[in-house]
Amino acid sequence: MDVKSRLVVVLGTGGTIAGTGAGPDDVGYQAAQLSVEQLLRAVPALAGVPMEAQQVAQIDSKDMDWSVWQALAQHIREALARDDVAAVVITHGTDTLEETAYLLHRLLDVHKPVVLTAAMRAATSAQADGPRNLHDAVRVAEHAASQGWAGVVAVMAGVIWPGHAVRKSHTWHIDDAFDGGGEAPLGHITDSGAIVGAVSWPPPGRAGWFCLEAAGPPPRVEILTSHAGADGLLVEALLTQSQLAGHALGGLVVACTGHGTIHQGLTRALEKAEQQGIKIWRSSRVARGGVLTRAGDHWPAAGALTAAQARVALMLDLWGVPCGEMKD
Ligand code: SIN
Repeated sequence: MDVKSRLVVVLGTGGTIAGTGAGPDDVGYQAAQLSVEQLLRAVPALAGVPMEAQQVAQIDSKDMDWSVWQALAQHIREALARDDVAAVVITHGTDTLEETAYLLHRLLDVHKPVVLTAAMRAATSAQADGPRNLHDAVRVAEHAASQGWAGVVAVMAGVIWPGHAVRKSHTWHIDDAFDGGGEAPLGHITDSGAIVGAVSWPPPGRAGWFCLEAAGPPPRVEILTSHAGADGLLVEALLTQSQLAGHALGGLVVACTGHGTIHQGLTRALEKAEQQGIKIWRSSRVARGGVLTRAGDHWPAAGALTAAQARVALMLDLWGVPCGEMKD
């Protein structure tokens, strides 16, 4: 690694990793309370690492929205364009990390690493996992930069996950709160801090920077679930509202039953939506396997993407960003 480009820029967005509660045993807490500088100061092992902290947002990631993604994209773009910056680390909430990671993966076309990390316990918890995750993320970022690896990954609980596949898989566990939806980890960080297993990273998304910062409001894409008794009433309501609201519905992602099946009542309403130019994609409400493309499919299958990731993918599709990810 070039000595000039050793800096790791750490971008804070909030989340439980920056959360505080009343005491070490208090399960209740408020996310997004500590600054990213405070998070870094809480990891003494990083004291000698050249880092620069930037606070992009301070939110519970359940409230993630387009304006925060735009700000984040701008900070990443500016950081990665600097000769003295080797890599970017992002502290994030766990709840929408998979959407941000997927979005950045699709839009990033640079030759440096971008590492997301988070925590399942607040910074004040007796079980706080944030300091270890932040430490690991910075070490992985440095290591990847030294190897010339680029792209978006997430580091949680000692595991490196590919950014296009990572998703939250448990609501409160610490050690297996994330997985790759069937994709293997890219590597692990051992208890001594060694990075093992990662011999390379998959190529970053090649769409290039779609100019997220300059883009207007994103195409409206909603997620619907197919379930017992799904009768399509919500689709009807969306079509009516879309005409009134002036932010036209562009697409619908269905979190389908099983391998991409949809209740007949909902199907009828979706056919009507399709006739009005709404794009329909199918993902699954089942945690593993996704929806693979099969001969005779009427509506596209979202592959291994979660419904939330498929929503991001469909927004990009409606914007004309080329897609390389909907492969089985
Ligand atoms: C959040 O997503 O910001 C809150 C939950 C978490 O980080 O675990």
